[in-house]
Amino acid sequence: MPDTLICSYMCGIVGYIGRRQAYPILIGGLHRLEYRGYDSAGVALIGDDGALNVYKTRGKVEALEHFAASKDLSGCVGIAHTRWATHGEPNDVNAHPHVSQSGDIAIIHNGTIENYHVLKEALLAHGYSFRSETDTEVLVQLIDYIGQTNGCSLFEAVQEATRQIVGAYAIAVIDRKEPDRIVAARRSSPLVIGIGDGEYFLASDATPIVEYTDRVVYLNDDEIAVLECGKPLHVVNTKANAESRIDIQRLKMSISELEKGGYPHFMLKEIFEQPKTVGDCISGRVAADGRSVVLSGLVENRERFMAAGRIIIVACGTSWHAGLIGKQLIEEFCRIPVDVEYASEFRYRNPVVHPDDILIAISQSGETADTLAALELAKSKGAFVFGICNVVGASIPRATDSGCYIHVGPEIGVASTKAFTGQVTVLAMMALALGRMKGTVDDDKFTRVACQLRDMPSLISKVLKLDGRIRELSKIFTYAHNFLYLGRGYNYPTALEGALKLKEISYIHAEGYPAAEMKHGPIALIDNEMPTVVIATADSIYDKTVSNIQQVKARGGRVMAIVTEGDTTASEIADYAIEIPEVCECLSPLLTSIPLQLLAYYIAVNKGRDVDQPRNLAKSVTVE
Ligand code: AGP
Ligand code: GLU
Repeated sequence: MPDTLICSYMCGIVGYIGRRQAYPILIGGLHRLEYRGYDSAGVALIGDDGALNVYKTRGKVEALEHFAASKDLSGCVGIAHTRWATHGEPNDVNAHPHVSQSGDIAIIHNGTIENYHVLKEALLAHGYSFRSETDTEVLVQLIDYIGQTNGCSLFEAVQEATRQIVGAYAIAVIDRKEPDRIVAARRSSPLVIGIGDGEYFLASDATPIVEYTDRVVYLNDDEIAVLECGKPLHVVNTKANAESRIDIQRLKMSISELEKGGYPHFMLKEIFEQPKTVGDCISGRVAADGRSVVLSGLVENRERFMAAGRIIIVACGTSWHAGLIGKQLIEEFCRIPVDVEYASEFRYRNPVVHPDDILIAISQSGETADTLAALELAKSKGAFVFGICNVVGASIPRATDSGCYIHVGPEIGVASTKAFTGQVTVLAMMALALGRMKGTVDDDKFTRVACQLRDMPSLISKVLKLDGRIRELSKIFTYAHNFLYLGRGYNYPTALEGALKLKEISYIHAEGYPAAEMKHGPIALIDNEMPTVVIATADSIYDKTVSNIQQVKARGGRVMAIVTEGDTTASEIADYAIEIPEVCECLSPLLTSIPLQLLAYYIAVNKGRDVDQPRNLAKSVTVE
């Protein structure tokens, strides 16, 4: 099994070593990583007096700040962590950092140590005792044990320990006996090193680093880095047992992209950003006259795409919904059969993959473990793998043969919004560009759709003007316990996405269904307690969808319909109607999804939910 198939969770690591006081940088960094989801937080500092000070607590980063406020927070070297519990419940003791029995070494860890049990038994036999239930504490004791028995440096002890552990990890380790360095290592969990002026930053992603430096190094699997104040970065590949070449990259992210910019929540900000993000996504790709669409990843691999017998799309969650729309787009424009699979199912069912298949992995974060594993599997069977991702330099874009970024900027809200419209936009551009290459789309249709794509930012702006109306409607529906979302064709995946948005942030049960399937089961649920949201825009099956609305109304259901401007039929039958601008069927999800995002957002706000960090969810699920 390739290393990248081992999974880890998506919580946060921050580290700093330099001349400044570390604590404010570490806490600021933890706040930047909050969006990833976590249940406890902690920090370890080598204080000005040389002591190792560790503060940690269950709960939010604010709770940690409150707890640490009266303590010694001095020190220019430190590590900090947000934990998403895997081994042992979220509590103060299990929170990271964990400290070795000697009291010298502190570690933070994202991931799971699969063989922790065996290692723990061995360490217990050597006289080690354990305070927490975590796998991580085993690792710090192992490093301590190796260091003590071999009399070796922290770097050497970490190197040896990583040889003995099985599992996924991003770790940062400090030792008060070696107060001038941080040792960091990764396998399957991301780690980024920021290079400042005689100082280093370390984090799970670039968001805590960007305000200090734009020069970063992405650590690769099986690499160990030594960060020493005022000294060059030292990275070793433990598998190859060789010094790694330092590949410094420039960050394109800006600080303002990481702030709420006056919005109460990141999710609302991100919903409202969509005219710009879709604009950024098509910029330089769709010609102003709509006569050409250029995606370099397609152009560079023209022969491969021309020869494709089949396309397999793998993804999870919202990205999977975008994939379902992608299937319809590619089949319509390119006449290539497309299968869309949950990455988690695909990877475990010995799928048939031919060498002339192209696998497209869709992932906002580029770190979702199942998606990464699915693409590795397809690659091992000879398929060409193509990524549609947002986070530049993440594991998935680095593992693919080629790809296309959606360029929507950092998405912080756990509920994906602008990434969805970015993904659909890229898939629409791919379908057009590939259809043109294959000659399966005529010029008139190509130009009509490309021009609408070009105009999409202003069309989305129009839909966003419905904000006030949707906010009002949300009040009517806030106290429903169940929702049904219906749509057909291109808007069946939109119905699924609308239902997912509602359940993840409001905790209201919601199901998305192809409208016609309602008759085969869900219709039994309908009564006036359960609202039905129907996407009934003017398309080739509009009349059928209207019949479905009638079927709901006939059983006493309440209907909110998303319709096209000027609609009379569906709006009359439905209890409430939201009118959106007319657009071709294949691009309609770019507009119909937006009222559904707003509806979910306002219902969650009405219910007082934690919109940006809903319970139990992590922004990117790098776990099986
Ligand atoms: C979206 O709102 C969800 N939080 C989730 O379903 C997400 O889309 C899924 O985990 C996939 O993430 P990715 O796009 O980063 O791979
Ligand atoms: N497995 C470790 C624990 O349960 C780390 C979890 C994480 O990635 O935060 O503490």
